[in-house]
Amino acid sequence: MHEDLERILFTEEQIQAEVARLGRELTRDFQGRHPLFVCVLKGAVMFMADLVKRVELPLEMDFMATSSYGSASKSSGVVRILKDLDRPVESRHVVIVEDIVDTGLTLKHLREMILHRGAASVTIVALFDKPEGRAVAIEPDYYGFRVPNEFIVGYGLDYAERYRNLPYVGVLKPEVYVK
Ligand code: IMP
Ligand code: MG
Repeated sequence: MHEDLERILFTEEQIQAEVARLGRELTRDFQGRHPLFVCVLKGAVMFMADLVKRVELPLEMDFMATSSYGSASKSSGVVRILKDLDRPVESRHVVIVEDIVDTGLTLKHLREMILHRGAASVTIVALFDKPEGRAVAIEPDYYGFRVPNEFIVGYGLDYAERYRNLPYVGVLKPEVYVK
């Protein structure tokens, strides 16, 4: 375990098993369609890469980057598009792939934007769901793990851009935040 972590919440094996389960469900539920999987950078990059390998469909991939103003560990609610999608979403079945739903503000904004552009449907897949953090009424259609109202890092999730490369997910030691 990384020396900055207090404890591990989900091991690499647990994450991979859950990602495989989500892949099987999406494969079943999107039969006959060719969905567009949209990765929300940067946090969802690991999840996206592992998930699409478990989805047996003629899917396409696109990427977008958002940012919310505010400190490193609290969402402010203002969502900026830093990198937009490369291709139109009109009449596409869009699957938004997110790392974690906390306040829900990012996903609410993205879902409305993609629907406004004429997508046939928008489905939200999040690896982690932090229901206690919710500020707006939005729920992922598929999620991997429920997590407590704590700040987690690893498997794409960062604190000040670090720890994204850990293959597992855990909670930082309190002293790491004040360094
Ligand atoms: P929102 O609050 O639901 O809009 O979440 C916005 C973004 O905040 C997520 O996509 C993550 O990138 C980030 N975030 C929320 N909770 C955590 C956490 O516990 N660790 C790391 N990033 C988080
Ligand atoms: Mg994110």
